[in-house]
Amino acid sequence: MASQPLIAIVGATGAQGSSVLSTYLNTTSWRIRALTRSVSSSKAKALTERSSRIEVAEANLNDIASLRKAFEGAIAIFGVTDFWTLISDESNKAKVKDGQSFAEWGAEMEVQQGKNIFEAANQVSSLKRLVFSSLTDITKWSGGKYTYALHFDSKAIALKHAEEHFPNVYAKTSILVAGAYLENFKQNPFFKPKLEGEALIFNSFGTGNRPWPFIAAEEDTGSIVKALIELPAGLRVAAHRELKVMSDVVQLIGKAAGYEVRLEQQEFPLPDDLKKDLANIFGFVNEFGYWGNDPSIKQPEELGVELRLGSIEDWVKAQDWSKELNG
Ligand SMILES: NC(=O)c1ccc[n+]([C@@H]2O[C@H](COP(=O)([O-])OP(=O)(O)OC[C@H]3O[C@@H](n4cnc5c(N)ncnc54)[C@H](OP(=O)(O)O)[C@@H]3O)[C@@H](O)[C@H]2O)c1
Repeated sequence: MASQPLIAIVGATGAQGSSVLSTYLNTTSWRIRALTRSVSSSKAKALTERSSRIEVAEANLNDIASLRKAFEGAIAIFGVTDFWTLISDESNKAKVKDGQSFAEWGAEMEVQQGKNIFEAANQVSSLKRLVFSSLTDITKWSGGKYTYALHFDSKAIALKHAEEHFPNVYAKTSILVAGAYLENFKQNPFFKPKLEGEALIFNSFGTGNRPWPFIAAEEDTGSIVKALIELPAGLRVAAHRELKVMSDVVQLIGKAAGYEVRLEQQEFPLPDDLKKDLANIFGFVNEFGYWGNDPSIKQPEELGVELRLGSIEDWVKAQDWSKELNG
């Protein structure tokens, strides 16, 4: 029904956006527009088949006109940008400028994607709330010590631009700062453990004793975004279930999977620019914590809304580790 409020979800086929979509599917009073680069991809087709309440719309973060069209009539927008897709496409290497590395190009493009979300949202007269997925401004909160956290700072730079250039939309915006995904332990080759005999070998990343915030992005993002849509704008929320040191999380996985655990600090098999990006992020988190000393950050429990996020252990126990490790 056209009279029902509409939410437009960027990245609806991805981890964060699919969680927002699932939450709003359970909220029968909303219409859902799921944005994707290709309506004919298998993930987009699966959304069309999942429910007649989902309208799948083609839009590209690199193309403001397509975003503008896909945001039309929305009361709420969930916006997420994607550094990793940009730099996973080898053909993009031809677009790198002189003196720029591929990751630096990716970060510059991700800044532009964020700006595009705000610029397109600025033209949506029906808009009441934009929830933008960002990360910590590491250059700022490290006092200039860590200046190469490319894919964190890129999201923060886009926000700063929005604050200056699109104050009307910025005034309707709340910010989600996603913690490290628990799903990384199943899907990301650098986090996923390797089975060697009776031991599970995890990369320690040199994270030391500093606790990290972990989120089950596919399960948790939606309820936090819904809270941010219902609450007044101007919130910046640390989106996570719990803080835990990496060595404790991997012990939980070892216990659930039935193996002893070994942590080894391994080199990232990555180009130098990405190694430097990750080293800056891990260095920052070790020294300053994931959010630095940003006083505006609110913890989920400070929202005053029941989010039912569960614990890290709940998530670990719910996974089929024999399938994950042997699949
Ligand atoms: N992994 C972590 O621990 C972690 C933690 C915090 C934040 N993040 C951030 O999360 C972001 C990615 O979000 P995610 O994990 O939810 O996504 P994801 O699962 O990696 O999937 C990528 C999503 O982005 C969409 N997308 C990619 N390029 C696009 C473009 N040019 N135009 C429109 N849509 C595009 C894809 O849609 P289609 O393919 O359907 O077009 C897909 O829905 C990254 O920027 C990353 O830095 C990750």
